[in-house]
Amino acid sequence: MVSGMSLTLLDRSDAEAAPAPVNTNGPFKIELHVNGRRHQLALDVRTTLLDALREHMGLTGSKKGCDHGQCGACTVLIGGKRVLSCLTLAASAEGRDVTTIEGLAGADGTLHPMQQAFIDHDAFQCGYCTPGQIMSAVACVTEGHAENEAQIREYMSGNLCRCAAYPNIVDAVQQAKTQMKGA
Ligand code: FES
Ligand code: FES
Repeated sequence: MVSGMSLTLLDRSDAEAAPAPVNTNGPFKIELHVNGRRHQLALDVRTTLLDALREHMGLTGSKKGCDHGQCGACTVLIGGKRVLSCLTLAASAEGRDVTTIEGLAGADGTLHPMQQAFIDHDAFQCGYCTPGQIMSAVACVTEGHAENEAQIREYMSGNLCRCAAYPNIVDAVQQAKTQMKGA
């Protein structure tokens, strides 16, 4: 049988072997610049940019399809370059300009040429992939990968569409690139 003295010693020994855990996951303070607005947030350090947008800023235009970098539904722009927000930590976007589908239209509500082109060419059906498709399509043009259909298809190949609107999406990019270059 273990005496009371032994129990006390055991407790002290255990406490020394296992110091109280320190919570390094936050919440920590972060400022994100999204669509021209500053957002002060307190986030777990592991929060993805996609979850920060959707769960902490109410910007639900960017979609969570796979959450594993496989579908492109979560595509946004950081500093004008496309990224998969489900694979990007919110902390890594701090101080950089993030653009989501909600930030594409003009202040007066005028659609971005790429948004209008998707409508004109019926480039969606259910629409779930569409925000990611449009953000990728914008980058396709601005990064210079829209010279011909083959280039567009290659660049856009990471954005999956279960409704198979691919031919119409290519047509939309072809239309918008002309307007974007003239803008
Ligand atoms: S949700 Fe990010 S790639 Fe699918
Ligand atoms: S429009 Fe339905 S998944 Fe693309």
